[in-house]
Amino acid sequence: MKNNQDDNKNLSAYEKAAEEGVDPRCIPQRLEGPVPEHDDVTYPDYPESDQETWKFLYNRQVKLLPGSACDEYLEGARRLNLSADRIPYLKELSHVFNDFTGWRIARIPGLIHEQDFFGLLQRKMFPSTDYIRGKDELDYTPAPDLFHDIFGHMPLLTNKNFASFYQMFGEAALNAKGKDRVKLEALHWFTVEFGLIKSAEGMRFYGAGVASSHKEIINALSDQVEVIDFDPEQVVSQQYDVWHLQPILFAIESFEHLETGFYDWTKKLGLL
Ligand SMILES: [Fe+2]
Repeated sequence: MKNNQDDNKNLSAYEKAAEEGVDPRCIPQRLEGPVPEHDDVTYPDYPESDQETWKFLYNRQVKLLPGSACDEYLEGARRLNLSADRIPYLKELSHVFNDFTGWRIARIPGLIHEQDFFGLLQRKMFPSTDYIRGKDELDYTPAPDLFHDIFGHMPLLTNKNFASFYQMFGEAALNAKGKDRVKLEALHWFTVEFGLIKSAEGMRFYGAGVASSHKEIINALSDQVEVIDFDPEQVVSQQYDVWHLQPILFAIESFEHLETGFYDWTKKLGLL
């Protein structure tokens, strides 16, 4: 169990994982040079088995969206024209973001060092992989893959308030040092990856870690989870465990609430 308050070395969860000898795909790599962006991203020659994996994951997950995904996520998935037919082309998705929010896609080779990651976010570039998990990892993969990056993260990047929040996050994270860096990592976890949002119809998710996980999409909105109102100061002092289903999650009122709440909090910390 990770405990931010006792974390006197200020290591990120992934740096700790590297120290503890976990799967090498979970060890962040520094980018050695520029990566393909937007129009320079090409479509890999996926074997048929990869296309089948996409189709399986997409069909299994899409059934769980009604009544659990927020309207903004569903609208984003429509805008991106996601479908079971084939693995989406990152370049085409990049053009959709660009039209709605000015974001674009950079194709990355795997888990990248956080300074590279934040630097891309600050430039409104979403770092995405273009390979898919193996058939032995359909339920869970510890490393990033295109199903998580596309199905999980991308729909919300067509939303103006979320996109603005995420760009500010990149900027604040680049400025953060020591304990502030660890705080922002926790905030990312409880918003971008596992965030919930209140709606007139009830609680919904918007986090990518929920959207792309068969188990989390069921767990996150069940009575197994304690839901707390989003407050950045409380979020960053909350313990969490990256390897198990989440027992505590935070709910925002709206994406405007996330954007302004984050802005006010980071201004106070001197990170923006
Ligand atoms: Fe993610």
